Amino acid sequence: MKTQKSEAVLKFDGREITLPVIIGTEGDKGLDISRMRKETGLVTIDPGFVNTASCFSQITYIDGEKGILRYRGYPIQELAAKETFVDVAYLLVHGALPTEKERMDFSSLLNRNSLLHEDMRHFFDSFPQGAHPMHILSTMVNAMAAFYPNVDVHTTARNIEHSCARVISIVRTIAAFAYKKSIGEPIVYPRHDLSYCANFLNMMFDSPVRPYHISPEAVRLLNVLFIVHADHEQNCSTTAVRAIGSAQVNLYATIAAGISALSGPLHGGANQAVIEQLRMIQADGDIGKFIRKAKDKDDPFRLMGFGHRVYKAYDPRAEIVRNECEKYLAATGIHDPLLDLAHRIEEIARNDSYFIERKLYPNVDFYTGILYRAMGIPENMFTVMFALARLPGWVAHWREMISDTTKIVRPRQIYVGRTLQKLDDGAERLPADLLV
Ligand code: SDX
Repeated sequence: MKTQKSEAVLKFDGREITLPVIIGTEGDKGLDISRMRKETGLVTIDPGFVNTASCFSQITYIDGEKGILRYRGYPIQELAAKETFVDVAYLLVHGALPTEKERMDFSSLLNRNSLLHEDMRHFFDSFPQGAHPMHILSTMVNAMAAFYPNVDVHTTARNIEHSCARVISIVRTIAAFAYKKSIGEPIVYPRHDLSYCANFLNMMFDSPVRPYHISPEAVRLLNVLFIVHADHEQNCSTTAVRAIGSAQVNLYATIAAGISALSGPLHGGANQAVIEQLRMIQADGDIGKFIRKAKDKDDPFRLMGFGHRVYKAYDPRAEIVRNECEKYLAATGIHDPLLDLAHRIEEIARNDSYFIERKLYPNVDFYTGILYRAMGIPENMFTVMFALARLPGWVAHWREMISDTTKIVRPRQIYVGRTLQKLDDGAERLPADLLV
């Protein structure tokens, strides 16, 4: 890891200590406070870790001010235009794009691990009709630990390789099975003669009575959508994966935690929330009212798909998705009034001082749902699509974490509760009866 060092001086309580500053390969600087508590008794306070780097990582680089996103140094725009999702998954997990042989071996490993254990199929029958597919997905992935060899920090490199491929491949099968079960159609099994994305579309839309025509354009589009969602450094769900994984929990339970974190409407759940919000605004007809609500500090309403913890410029992924969305709808002749509404809202927000001052731009979720709708993906599957795409990122960070550290994630706190209390030994207060 090529880093440079500088230093910072901390003065506190009449004392002065010098702390190292680590400078990353792209110039980001971090104050290393490993010695601070021991030497000064101080800890840092940073709710939401807005200003805190939790680790060193070589996987993804984001420059939020410039709207830059790179996976292992490659710009997202180039990867989305020229690579397949499987090659990008290999890049994220293994650190380099695959050679032809590595690509064949990886695809074969994904195929060999695409079938869900038949006994797990019956789990779907136990979920109530209408169960959200993200809840099904996290439950099923967690249950994989009962059906597949354990994979944690102590396992063999070969088992890690196979288990990571299994997660990236079988979770796609589980997602498609969950969809088929939700619409009461027979499940469609994965096929070894189809590519990763073509397989998923076929498992989603093929039917015994209506064979699905796999459109090359839909496959290309799904590769692009999966690539732009594949990783995003230390976002909430990846942080959950690293934290849970640091306790040496098996990979499946760790990924299930990532899926759960991603389901939140402030995170991956935003792509479904955007469509719900656009429909609500469309039905109401008064865009200005909702823009005012979004700006009102006393109103919990937020413009879903807008704003980002890191990007203070246009999310480069949103730009790719918006362009693909416009191209696909034009090419297929689909007119979606929600796209017109989204454009209108973006135009208003980008000329409004509230959004300009806070550097609030569309993020990856703002246009994604409109494109999924055009592709026939049902709304309750939007966040599942995000989870499938993020699997290589979560797996890459888990592997990086287990190879880098054995430290369990356990932050400190500043206690602001009651000081020492004594139980009142006055006669009027009898000890609680432990039996009732
Ligand atoms: C993803 O981290 C990642 O990388 C995530 C992700 C990934 O790939 O993993 O990129 C995927 O989760 C994208 C984000 C999807 N979520 C949404 O679209 C939900 C709507 N967005 C907001 O809730 C918000 O912007 C967050 C959650 C995304 C970011 O929240 P922050 O960083 O904690 O920012 P903040 O809430 O402190 O906002 C700063 C200011 C506040 O106003 P002031 O208090 O300064 O007056 O901006 C305002 C906020 O009120 N603000 C918004 C807003 N987002 C921020 N105001 C109205 N609408 C919004 N959407």
